[in-house]
Amino acid sequence: MQHDAIAERRNNIAPIPFEADAPFLRVIGELPRELNGTLYRNGPNPQFEAPGAHWFVGDGMLHAFHIENGRASYRNRWVRTPKWLAEHDAGRALFGGFGRKLPDAPADLTDGGVANTNIIFHAGKLLALEEAHLPTEIEPGTLATRGYHNYQGRIAGSFTAHPKIDPATGELVFFGYNAAGPLTPALSYGSIDASGKATRFERFEAPYASMVHDFIVTENHVLFPILPITGSMERAMSGKPPYAWEPDKGAYVGVMKRNGTAKDIVWFRAEACYVFHVMNAWEDGNRIIADVMQFEEAPLFPHPDGRPTDPEKSRARHCRWTFDLSGNTDRFQQTYLDDLTGEFPRIDDRRAGLKSRHGWYACANPRLPMFGALSGIVHVDGNGRRLGHYLLPTGDTISEPVFVERSKDAPEGDGWLLAVVWRARENRSDLAVFNATDVEAGPVALVQLGHRVPDGFHGNWVGAA
Ligand SMILES: [Fe+2]
Repeated sequence: MQHDAIAERRNNIAPIPFEADAPFLRVIGELPRELNGTLYRNGPNPQFEAPGAHWFVGDGMLHAFHIENGRASYRNRWVRTPKWLAEHDAGRALFGGFGRKLPDAPADLTDGGVANTNIIFHAGKLLALEEAHLPTEIEPGTLATRGYHNYQGRIAGSFTAHPKIDPATGELVFFGYNAAGPLTPALSYGSIDASGKATRFERFEAPYASMVHDFIVTENHVLFPILPITGSMERAMSGKPPYAWEPDKGAYVGVMKRNGTAKDIVWFRAEACYVFHVMNAWEDGNRIIADVMQFEEAPLFPHPDGRPTDPEKSRARHCRWTFDLSGNTDRFQQTYLDDLTGEFPRIDDRRAGLKSRHGWYACANPRLPMFGALSGIVHVDGNGRRLGHYLLPTGDTISEPVFVERSKDAPEGDGWLLAVVWRARENRSDLAVFNATDVEAGPVALVQLGHRVPDGFHGNWVGAA
């Protein structure tokens, strides 16, 4: 028992086994009165441990921090996906990883969706997202699951956890990979207008089957990164990793005009790398600039023979991609902007797809020997130069920082950052609120939970109407 407790405290990955409501949370410092709304977060929290399941495929658990008039409350709920409900009834795991059913699972059970990666609000709907399935609609107050949302049957198949909302038009732009079935090179692309109507949905072929976690959208273009965490049905069928790091395949990025079609996609090439997340991208004359968190080698996924990748190279750094659209070259440039290990980049979303002057990401502590655990926040300008840097006490970890503007017409970057912090020594979590332009000063308020929120993926703020 004591051994388990120590093992658990080395990281904050293990699931929590309960759902709770905490109506009045203790606040250290003072919550800004302008913060009125809810921070929703999502992450893997398996209901039942499945043998050999990747951390990525645990059931989604939502955590909602509601803030109003300087007070804070909390609620967490699992997303009740078909998989979650079937396993709940069975009292055990029925799926392993990536939709793979366990041998003794019922034959008619086919949906392994976990809805665990992101939660967004668009066209009046709160949607839990996970890239291999349709969005799952969630009731905002209760966090009750309403079920898959397919936009009146106009959308089918996989739907990225990282759609982009155009700040000028309110249009949501999305894609899906494995669009022709598991481990296929087909991608889908589509859009939903500000009223929630699907306006476009089509499919096209990518250079090879890969895990495509995020994409790039600017005012007039959409870019599809095909990077060599490859998918292979042949490998999967022979008991090898379905997804593996194959740098020889190289990096491709397909550039399409938003008002064009998939037939006109121009494929750019570069040295192999992997990117889970894009900070922002914009057009600059004949060029597209995209700031991403780039890994030299993929983390979390092995070589095709099962060997792990090099841990020194499987860390992400803030990196700028430059695409020359003048037709002179089919290569794109990759330039690191910092040497700090980081992930989960965010911006003031009012500048999504437009030139931005502020960005934030979670970073590792460069003074600690082991990279991996994210334990600080960096504030950068529009060229990746550090404007501020805050490190947590040793051992504590931090989530993706979510920006909330002070008011609708506040200047870019004027507002707060909300991040969930795990206090390693106490083995519980705080919601930390930072002044977004002065992260160096540390949190201006801490909302204290009695329990821990496991390290998750993504979240978003939904302001009170
Ligand atoms: Fe992500």
